[in-house]
Amino acid sequence: ERGGYKHFMLKEIHEQPDVVEATLRGRIDLAAGDVHATEMGVTPEFAKELRRVYIVACGTSHHAGIAGRYWIEQLARVPTVVELASEVRYREPIFFPDDLVIAISQSGETADTIAALKAAKAQGAKVLALCNVLDSAIPRLSDGALYTHAGPEIGVASTKAFTTQLAALLLLAVYLGRRRDSLPAERGREILQALWEIPSHMREVLGDADYVHAIAKRLVHAKDVLFLGRGLGFPIALEGALKLKEISYAHAEGYAAGEMKHGPIALIDEALPVIVVCPRDAHYDKTFSNLQEVRAREGQVVAIATKGDESILEIAQHHVWIPKVPDEVGPLLTVLPLQLIAYYVANLKGNDVDQPRNLAKTVTVE
Ligand code: M6R
Repeated sequence: ERGGYKHFMLKEIHEQPDVVEATLRGRIDLAAGDVHATEMGVTPEFAKELRRVYIVACGTSHHAGIAGRYWIEQLARVPTVVELASEVRYREPIFFPDDLVIAISQSGETADTIAALKAAKAQGAKVLALCNVLDSAIPRLSDGALYTHAGPEIGVASTKAFTTQLAALLLLAVYLGRRRDSLPAERGREILQALWEIPSHMREVLGDADYVHAIAKRLVHAKDVLFLGRGLGFPIALEGALKLKEISYAHAEGYAAGEMKHGPIALIDEALPVIVVCPRDAHYDKTFSNLQEVRAREGQVVAIATKGDESILEIAQHHVWIPKVPDEVGPLLTVLPLQLIAYYVANLKGNDVDQPRNLAKTVTVE
């Protein structure tokens, strides 16, 4: 059942190119530079009229939501907020009928996310479920559903659910952008083409995973690890840190690279590994200068960088190459080495990777 893999998590990591294909299948119209997903229940009229997107989720699904906000704001020009469902539910939140509330959940059964969704519905907002498990509670309570089609995810640490959520959110951002005339067909086509090609790049990154073993060996004794990223790299840094702490039990913190000076820089010394998500995207120069600051304080740098970036070789102790792709689809690649690093560190420690201590796959109580 684990298909020859030692753990479900490793199997699920390697399934990602196929399941992302499943998320995209039948939803992309390349010729028109557009997306078809009527099951979402977001009519062209509502897509035009809505004033705000409000994303609620927990854990890994919340990290996908942060990437979703970047895409929706950039491509559809709709103000977007992303909130932890556990905070929304007790905060007397304010929703409007022209809000599109998106509840992101792999299981569709997370108690906090259900409670946040009910609060939004009670105030008349339109609710869209972005879920993996068919006909689970969240889609049943929602006005429409965008399913990720990742198949059953058994490992407690979410992997393929995350990348399929990313793919679905980018589809949604393109759909909204096209309806709202903020995204020209040509640009929509470029993004969808890049998304369509991403599974083959994912295969490439996953196929050449030897580099990860050396990095995992380096990290296995680390008590603390800092993950940094900017723009779309920020939710990936958060996700990399969550993966590592969940299954390896090391303390890991994900931080926006630009916030480093506002606190975490005090932690940096020769004992602290710093994993930096720094592909050659629009934020590269800024993130690179953060990296130089880490090096100036003897921090040990692991860079997730674009293949052929010579400057990285001069500054990082370890690097993982990612193929050059358009900025928008970068997160679907940069997260892969972080999942593998977490997996191999936990495996070297002999931890129960699929059933880490104290964690449940589905959190149906708060
Ligand atoms: O099923 P959901 O997506 O609603 O679950 C949300 C979180 O409980 C989940 O992502 C959790 O953080 C995972 N263990 C992360 O690997």
